[in-house]
Amino acid sequence: MPRTIHNELAEIESRGLMRRTRLIHGRQGTHVNCDGREVLLLCSNNYLGLADHPALAAAATAAIRDYGTSSGASRLVSGTMTLHVQLEEAVARWKQSEAALVFNSGHAANTGIIPALVGRGDVVFSDRLNHASIIDGILLSGARLVRYPHNDVDRLARLMEKHHTTGRSLIVSDGVFSMDGDLAPLNGLVALKQASGALLMIDDAHGSGVMGERGRGSAESMGVSGGVDILMGTFGKALGSFGAYAAVSEQLRQLLVNRARSFIFSTSLPPAVLAASLAAVELVQSPEGEQLRQCLAANSSAFRRSLSAAGFVIPEGSTQIVPVVLGSTECTMGFCEELLAEGIFAQGIRPPTVPEGTSRIRFTLMATHSDADIAGAIARICQVGRLRGVI
Ligand SMILES: Cc1ncc(COP(=O)(O)O)c(C=O)c1O
Repeated sequence: MPRTIHNELAEIESRGLMRRTRLIHGRQGTHVNCDGREVLLLCSNNYLGLADHPALAAAATAAIRDYGTSSGASRLVSGTMTLHVQLEEAVARWKQSEAALVFNSGHAANTGIIPALVGRGDVVFSDRLNHASIIDGILLSGARLVRYPHNDVDRLARLMEKHHTTGRSLIVSDGVFSMDGDLAPLNGLVALKQASGALLMIDDAHGSGVMGERGRGSAESMGVSGGVDILMGTFGKALGSFGAYAAVSEQLRQLLVNRARSFIFSTSLPPAVLAASLAAVELVQSPEGEQLRQCLAANSSAFRRSLSAAGFVIPEGSTQIVPVVLGSTECTMGFCEELLAEGIFAQGIRPPTVPEGTSRIRFTLMATHSDADIAGAIARICQVGRLRGVI
Protein backbone atom coordinates (compact mmCIF):
# COMPACT_ATOMS: atom_id res chain seq x y z
CA MET A 1 0.00 0.00 0.00
CA PRO A 2 1.38 3.47 -0.89
CA ARG A 3 2.30 5.54 2.18
CA THR A 4 -0.40 8.21 1.81
CA ILE A 5 -1.62 10.27 4.76
CA HIS A 6 -4.98 8.52 4.43
CA ASN A 7 -3.39 5.06 4.69
CA GLU A 8 -1.25 6.11 7.62
CA LEU A 9 -4.30 7.36 9.53
CA ALA A 10 -6.23 4.18 8.63
CA GLU A 11 -3.39 2.08 10.02
CA ILE A 12 -3.31 4.04 13.31
CA GLU A 13 -7.11 3.63 13.57
CA SER A 14 -6.99 -0.11 12.82
CA ARG A 15 -4.50 -0.65 15.67
CA GLY A 16 -6.78 1.18 18.13
CA LEU A 17 -4.14 3.89 18.58
CA MET A 18 -5.91 6.95 17.18
CA ARG A 19 -5.54 9.88 19.58
CA ARG A 20 -8.27 12.50 19.88
CA THR A 21 -8.53 15.51 22.12
CA ARG A 22 -11.53 16.09 24.37
CA LEU A 23 -12.92 19.58 24.81
CA ILE A 24 -12.95 21.02 28.34
CA HIS A 25 -15.13 24.07 28.95
CA GLY A 26 -14.23 26.40 31.80
CA ARG A 27 -11.52 25.99 34.43
CA GLN A 28 -9.33 23.03 35.35
CA GLY A 29 -10.96 22.24 38.69
CA THR A 30 -11.75 18.90 40.31
CA HIS A 31 -14.88 18.77 38.13
CA VAL A 32 -14.90 19.93 34.54
CA ASN A 33 -17.36 20.20 31.74
CA CYS A 34 -16.04 17.69 29.21
CA ASP A 35 -17.71 17.53 25.80
CA GLY A 36 -20.81 19.13 27.35
CA ARG A 37 -21.13 17.02 30.57
CA GLU A 38 -19.89 17.65 34.09
CA VAL A 39 -17.40 14.95 35.11
CA LEU A 40 -14.93 14.28 37.92
CA LEU A 41 -11.42 15.04 36.66
CA LEU A 42 -8.95 12.26 37.47
CA CYS A 43 -6.29 12.85 34.82
CA SER A 44 -4.92 16.34 35.37
CA ASN A 45 -1.37 17.11 36.49
CA ASN A 46 -2.77 20.12 38.35
CA TYR A 47 -1.93 18.16 41.50
CA LEU A 48 -2.28 20.95 44.06
CA GLY A 49 -5.26 22.57 42.37
CA LEU A 50 -3.31 25.79 41.71
CA ALA A 51 -4.42 26.17 38.08
CA ASP A 52 -7.45 28.17 39.22
CA HIS A 53 -6.01 29.60 42.44
CA PRO A 54 -6.91 33.29 42.91
CA ALA A 55 -3.32 34.24 43.90
CA LEU A 56 -1.93 33.00 40.58
CA ALA A 57 -4.73 34.60 38.57
CA ALA A 58 -4.23 37.95 40.38
CA ALA A 59 -0.47 37.86 39.75
CA ALA A 60 -0.99 37.08 36.06
CA THR A 61 -3.59 39.84 35.67
CA ALA A 62 -1.35 42.41 37.36
CA ALA A 63 1.59 41.39 35.16
CA ILE A 64 -0.42 41.94 32.00
CA ARG A 65 -1.42 45.37 33.29
CA ASP A 66 2.18 46.29 34.18
CA TYR A 67 4.19 44.53 31.47
CA GLY A 68 1.83 43.72 28.59
CA THR A 69 1.20 40.39 26.96
CA SER A 70 4.48 39.35 25.35
CA SER A 71 8.21 39.32 26.04
CA GLY A 72 8.72 40.33 22.43
CA ALA A 73 11.81 38.25 21.66
CA SER A 74 14.25 35.56 22.73
CA ARG A 75 15.96 36.27 26.07
CA LEU A 76 19.24 36.96 24.23
CA VAL A 77 17.64 39.54 21.95
CA SER A 78 15.33 41.84 23.93
CA GLY A 79 13.28 39.31 25.85
CA THR A 80 14.85 39.20 29.33
CA MET A 81 12.39 41.02 31.57
CA THR A 82 12.61 41.72 35.29
CA LEU A 83 10.08 38.93 35.85
CA HIS A 84 12.42 36.35 34.28
CA VAL A 85 15.17 37.38 36.68
CA GLN A 86 12.84 37.44 39.70
CA LEU A 87 11.51 33.99 38.85
CA GLU A 88 15.01 32.52 38.41
CA GLU A 89 16.15 34.02 41.72
CA ALA A 90 13.05 32.62 43.45
CA VAL A 91 13.60 29.15 41.95
CA ALA A 92 17.27 29.11 42.99
CA ARG A 93 16.34 30.10 46.57
CA TRP A 94 13.59 27.45 46.64
CA LYS A 95 15.76 24.66 45.23
CA GLN A 96 18.83 25.84 47.18
CA SER A 97 20.91 25.92 44.00
CA GLU A 98 23.48 28.52 42.95
CA ALA A 99 21.38 29.55 39.95
CA ALA A 100 18.40 28.69 37.79
CA LEU A 101 17.39 29.13 34.17
CA VAL A 102 13.80 29.28 32.96
CA PHE A 103 12.70 27.42 29.80
CA ASN A 104 9.49 27.73 27.77
CA SER A 105 8.24 24.23 28.67
CA GLY A 106 9.47 20.95 30.06
CA HIS A 107 9.84 19.61 26.55
CA ALA A 108 11.86 22.67 25.52
CA ALA A 109 14.02 22.28 28.64
CA ASN A 110 14.89 18.65 27.96
CA THR A 111 15.51 19.18 24.25
CA GLY A 112 17.61 22.24 25.07
CA ILE A 113 19.62 21.07 28.08
CA ILE A 114 20.70 17.61 26.92
CA PRO A 115 22.20 18.64 23.54
CA ALA A 116 23.89 21.58 25.31
CA LEU A 117 25.74 19.14 27.57
CA VAL A 118 26.53 16.17 25.32
CA GLY A 119 27.16 15.44 21.67
CA ARG A 120 29.05 13.07 19.39
CA GLY A 121 31.61 11.02 21.35
CA ASP A 122 29.62 11.33 24.60
CA VAL A 123 27.29 8.78 26.20
CA VAL A 124 23.89 9.25 27.85
CA PHE A 125 22.62 6.58 30.25
CA SER A 126 18.84 6.86 30.33
CA ASP A 127 16.24 4.91 32.33
CA ARG A 128 14.11 2.80 30.00
CA LEU A 129 10.91 4.52 31.23
CA ASN A 130 12.14 8.11 30.95
CA HIS A 131 9.77 10.71 29.49
CA ALA A 132 9.64 11.12 25.70
CA SER A 133 11.07 14.65 25.88
CA ILE A 134 14.27 13.24 27.44
CA ILE A 135 14.58 10.74 24.60
CA ASP A 136 13.99 13.56 22.08
CA GLY A 137 16.77 15.58 23.74
CA ILE A 138 19.19 12.66 23.58
CA LEU A 139 18.40 11.91 19.92
CA LEU A 140 18.88 15.56 19.05
CA SER A 141 22.26 15.63 20.81
CA GLY A 142 23.94 12.98 18.66
CA ALA A 143 25.40 11.35 21.79
CA ARG A 144 25.27 7.56 22.15
CA LEU A 145 22.06 6.47 23.94
CA VAL A 146 22.41 3.58 26.39
CA ARG A 147 19.10 2.66 28.01
CA TYR A 148 19.23 0.85 31.34
CA PRO A 149 16.45 -1.34 32.80
CA HIS A 150 13.98 0.65 34.85
CA ASN A 151 15.46 1.76 38.19
CA ASP A 152 18.21 -0.91 38.02
CA VAL A 153 21.31 0.77 39.49
CA ASP A 154 23.43 -2.41 39.36
CA ARG A 155 22.80 -2.88 35.65
CA LEU A 156 23.47 0.82 35.11
CA ALA A 157 26.86 0.46 36.87
CA ARG A 158 27.78 -2.47 34.60
CA LEU A 159 26.63 -0.61 31.49
CA MET A 160 28.69 2.41 32.50
CA GLU A 161 31.80 0.21 32.74
CA LYS A 162 31.04 -1.38 29.39
CA HIS A 163 30.41 1.94 27.62
CA HIS A 164 33.24 3.85 29.24
CA THR A 165 34.06 6.98 27.23
CA THR A 166 36.85 9.51 27.13
CA GLY A 167 34.10 12.02 26.37
CA ARG A 168 31.37 13.12 28.77
CA SER A 169 28.88 10.77 30.45
CA LEU A 170 25.42 11.87 31.50
CA ILE A 171 22.98 9.87 33.63
CA VAL A 172 19.40 11.05 33.21
CA SER A 173 16.24 9.92 34.96
CA ASP A 174 12.74 11.06 35.81
CA GLY A 175 12.50 11.73 39.58
CA VAL A 176 8.88 10.51 39.67
CA PHE A 177 8.05 8.40 36.61
CA SER A 178 5.23 10.02 34.70
CA MET A 179 3.34 6.89 33.60
CA ASP A 180 4.15 4.59 36.54
CA GLY A 181 4.18 7.00 39.47
CA ASP A 182 7.17 5.32 41.13
CA LEU A 183 10.37 7.02 42.30
CA ALA A 184 13.88 6.83 40.87
CA PRO A 185 16.56 5.34 43.16
CA LEU A 186 18.20 8.74 43.54
CA ASN A 187 20.64 7.68 46.31
CA GLY A 188 22.07 4.99 44.03
CA LEU A 189 22.24 7.33 41.02
CA VAL A 190 24.06 10.00 43.02
CA ALA A 191 26.56 7.43 44.39
CA LEU A 192 27.23 6.18 40.86
CA LYS A 193 27.62 9.68 39.49
CA GLN A 194 30.10 10.51 42.24
CA ALA A 195 32.11 7.32 41.68
CA SER A 196 32.21 7.71 37.89
CA GLY A 197 32.51 11.46 37.37
CA ALA A 198 29.39 11.48 35.18
CA LEU A 199 26.91 14.34 35.22
CA LEU A 200 23.48 13.59 36.75
CA MET A 201 20.26 15.16 35.47
CA ILE A 202 16.89 14.58 37.15
CA ASP A 203 13.59 15.54 35.52
CA ASP A 204 11.34 16.27 38.50
CA ALA A 205 8.28 17.36 36.53
CA HIS A 206 6.02 15.22 38.78
CA GLY A 207 7.87 15.59 42.09
CA SER A 208 8.38 19.32 42.17
CA GLY A 209 5.90 21.14 44.41
CA VAL A 210 4.55 17.82 45.65
CA MET A 211 7.42 16.07 47.46
CA GLY A 212 10.05 17.09 50.01
CA GLU A 213 10.27 19.94 52.46
CA ARG A 214 8.56 23.06 51.04
CA GLY A 215 7.77 21.02 47.94
CA ARG A 216 11.38 21.09 46.80
CA GLY A 217 10.91 17.75 45.07
CA SER A 218 12.01 14.14 44.98
CA ALA A 219 15.77 14.77 45.38
CA GLU A 220 15.21 16.86 48.50
CA SER A 221 12.85 14.23 49.92
CA MET A 222 15.64 11.65 49.60
CA GLY A 223 18.28 14.04 50.96
CA VAL A 224 20.39 14.14 47.78
CA SER A 225 19.65 17.52 46.13
CA GLY A 226 23.33 18.49 46.46
CA GLY A 227 24.33 15.47 44.34
CA VAL A 228 22.21 16.37 41.32
CA ASP A 229 23.95 18.54 38.70
CA ILE A 230 20.87 19.50 36.70
CA LEU A 231 17.57 19.50 38.55
CA MET A 232 14.88 20.16 35.96
CA GLY A 233 11.27 20.82 36.90
CA THR A 234 8.13 22.24 35.34
CA PHE A 235 5.66 24.98 36.25
CA GLY A 236 2.78 23.41 34.31
CA LYS A 237 1.90 20.61 36.71
CA ALA A 238 1.75 20.99 40.52
CA LEU A 239 2.60 24.69 40.14
CA GLY A 240 -0.51 25.42 38.10
CA SER A 241 1.24 27.63 35.54
CA PHE A 242 3.39 26.90 32.46
CA GLY A 243 7.07 26.57 31.57
CA ALA A 244 10.07 24.90 33.18
CA TYR A 245 13.39 25.52 34.89
CA ALA A 246 16.81 24.02 35.47
CA ALA A 247 18.29 24.51 38.95
CA VAL A 248 22.05 24.38 38.36
CA SER A 249 25.44 25.88 39.23
CA GLU A 250 26.29 29.37 37.97
CA GLN A 251 28.72 27.84 35.44
CA LEU A 252 26.18 25.39 34.08
CA ARG A 253 23.65 28.19 33.75
CA GLN A 254 26.14 30.17 31.69
CA LEU A 255 26.77 27.17 29.46
CA LEU A 256 23.03 26.64 28.92
CA VAL A 257 22.53 30.31 28.03
CA ASN A 258 25.21 29.88 25.37
CA ARG A 259 24.36 26.42 24.09
CA ALA A 260 20.70 25.47 24.71
CA ARG A 261 19.04 26.08 21.36
CA SER A 262 15.46 26.02 22.74
CA PHE A 263 16.52 28.88 25.04
CA ILE A 264 18.44 30.83 22.40
CA PHE A 265 16.12 30.52 19.41
CA SER A 266 12.65 30.96 20.91
CA THR A 267 10.62 33.90 22.19
CA SER A 268 10.74 33.80 25.99
CA LEU A 269 7.77 33.22 28.28
CA PRO A 270 5.26 36.09 28.54
CA PRO A 271 4.77 38.22 31.70
CA ALA A 272 1.47 36.65 32.79
CA VAL A 273 2.97 33.17 32.81
CA LEU A 274 6.12 34.28 34.64
CA ALA A 275 4.10 36.10 37.30
CA ALA A 276 1.79 33.11 37.85
CA SER A 277 4.84 30.85 38.23
CA LEU A 278 6.43 33.28 40.68
CA ALA A 279 3.24 33.33 42.77
CA ALA A 280 3.14 29.51 42.67
CA VAL A 281 6.77 29.17 43.81
CA GLU A 282 5.92 31.33 46.84
CA LEU A 283 2.65 29.53 47.49
CA VAL A 284 4.05 25.98 47.49
CA GLN A 285 6.53 27.00 50.20
CA SER A 286 3.83 28.54 52.42
CA PRO A 287 1.72 26.81 55.11
CA GLU A 288 -1.08 26.62 52.53
CA GLY A 289 1.27 24.71 50.22
CA GLU A 290 2.13 22.30 53.04
CA GLN A 291 -1.56 21.72 53.75
CA LEU A 292 -2.25 21.04 50.07
CA ARG A 293 0.58 18.48 49.98
CA GLN A 294 -0.90 16.72 53.00
CA CYS A 295 -4.35 16.57 51.35
CA LEU A 296 -2.80 15.25 48.13
CA ALA A 297 -0.88 12.53 50.00
CA ALA A 298 -4.02 11.48 51.91
CA ASN A 299 -6.14 11.38 48.72
CA SER A 300 -3.47 9.44 46.83
CA SER A 301 -2.98 6.78 49.47
CA ALA A 302 -6.75 6.28 50.06
CA PHE A 303 -7.30 5.89 46.30
CA ARG A 304 -4.35 3.50 45.83
CA ARG A 305 -5.23 1.39 48.86
CA SER A 306 -8.88 0.94 47.90
CA LEU A 307 -8.28 0.05 44.25
CA SER A 308 -5.50 -2.37 45.21
CA ALA A 309 -7.72 -4.03 47.82
CA ALA A 310 -10.47 -4.35 45.18
CA GLY A 311 -8.08 -6.42 43.04
CA PHE A 312 -6.81 -3.96 40.41
CA VAL A 313 -3.19 -4.32 39.24
CA ILE A 314 -1.33 -1.22 40.44
CA PRO A 315 2.47 -1.11 40.23
CA GLU A 316 4.41 -0.37 43.43
CA GLY A 317 4.37 3.33 44.24
CA SER A 318 3.23 5.98 46.67
CA THR A 319 2.68 9.11 44.61
CA GLN A 320 -0.35 10.93 43.20
CA ILE A 321 0.05 9.08 39.88
CA VAL A 322 -1.89 5.82 40.16
CA PRO A 323 -1.71 3.59 37.07
CA VAL A 324 -4.23 0.75 36.80
CA VAL A 325 -2.63 -1.65 34.35
CA LEU A 326 -5.16 -3.46 32.16
CA GLY A 327 -2.81 -4.86 29.49
CA SER A 328 -4.58 -4.63 26.15
CA THR A 329 -5.23 -1.34 24.38
CA GLU A 330 -8.78 -2.40 23.55
CA CYS A 331 -9.71 -3.18 27.16
CA THR A 332 -8.08 0.05 28.36
CA MET A 333 -9.85 2.32 25.92
CA GLY A 334 -13.20 0.56 26.51
CA PHE A 335 -12.73 0.95 30.28
CA CYS A 336 -12.02 4.64 29.74
CA GLU A 337 -15.22 5.19 27.74
CA GLU A 338 -17.31 3.43 30.39
CA LEU A 339 -15.75 5.54 33.12
CA LEU A 340 -16.65 8.65 31.17
CA ALA A 341 -20.23 7.41 30.85
CA GLU A 342 -20.16 7.07 34.66
CA GLY A 343 -18.96 10.67 35.00
CA ILE A 344 -15.22 10.04 35.50
CA PHE A 345 -12.66 11.54 33.15
CA ALA A 346 -9.42 9.51 33.26
CA GLN A 347 -6.98 8.84 30.43
CA GLY A 348 -6.09 5.53 28.84
CA ILE A 349 -2.37 5.35 28.09
CA ARG A 350 -1.32 3.14 25.19
CA PRO A 351 1.81 2.28 23.20
CA PRO A 352 4.04 3.95 22.18
CA THR A 353 3.75 6.01 25.40
CA VAL A 354 4.01 2.77 27.44
CA PRO A 355 5.44 -0.64 26.40
CA GLU A 356 3.22 -3.02 24.40
CA GLY A 357 0.91 -5.09 26.65
CA THR A 358 0.99 -2.58 29.53
CA SER A 359 -1.81 -0.22 28.50
CA ARG A 360 -3.32 1.40 31.53
CA ILE A 361 -5.61 4.00 32.95
CA ARG A 362 -3.43 6.68 34.48
CA PHE A 363 -5.38 8.18 37.36
CA THR A 364 -4.01 11.34 38.91
CA LEU A 365 -5.20 12.77 42.20
CA MET A 366 -5.55 16.40 43.24
CA ALA A 367 -5.25 17.96 46.69
CA THR A 368 -8.62 19.59 46.13
CA HIS A 369 -10.60 16.37 45.54
CA SER A 370 -13.04 15.93 48.43
CA ASP A 371 -13.48 12.70 50.40
CA ALA A 372 -16.82 12.29 48.63
CA ASP A 373 -15.12 12.69 45.21
CA ILE A 374 -12.62 9.94 46.10
CA ALA A 375 -15.19 7.56 47.60
CA GLY A 376 -17.60 8.06 44.67
CA ALA A 377 -14.81 7.50 42.14
CA ILE A 378 -13.65 4.28 43.81
CA ALA A 379 -17.21 2.88 43.85
CA ARG A 380 -17.74 3.67 40.17
CA ILE A 381 -14.31 2.37 39.05
CA CYS A 382 -14.95 -0.90 40.92
CA GLN A 383 -18.39 -1.17 39.33
CA VAL A 384 -16.92 -0.82 35.82
CA GLY A 385 -14.09 -3.22 36.78
CA ARG A 386 -16.58 -5.89 37.87
CA LEU A 387 -18.76 -5.43 34.77
CA ARG A 388 -15.72 -5.87 32.50
CA GLY A 389 -14.39 -8.85 34.49
CA VAL A 390 -11.18 -7.03 35.43
CA ILE A 391 -11.70 -7.60 39.16
C1 LIG B 1 8.62 13.72 33.13
C2 LIG B 1 8.20 14.82 32.21
N1 LIG B 1 9.14 15.66 31.70
C3 LIG B 1 8.81 16.66 30.87
C4 LIG B 1 7.52 16.87 30.50
C5 LIG B 1 7.21 18.00 29.56
O1 LIG B 1 6.82 19.11 30.27
P1 LIG B 1 5.91 20.24 29.60
O2 LIG B 1 4.51 19.71 29.61
O3 LIG B 1 6.11 21.45 30.43
O4 LIG B 1 6.44 20.40 28.20
C6 LIG B 1 6.51 16.04 31.00
C7 LIG B 1 5.07 16.19 30.68
O5 LIG B 1 4.48 16.82 30.02
C8 LIG B 1 6.86 14.99 31.87
O6 LIG B 1 5.92 14.16 32.34
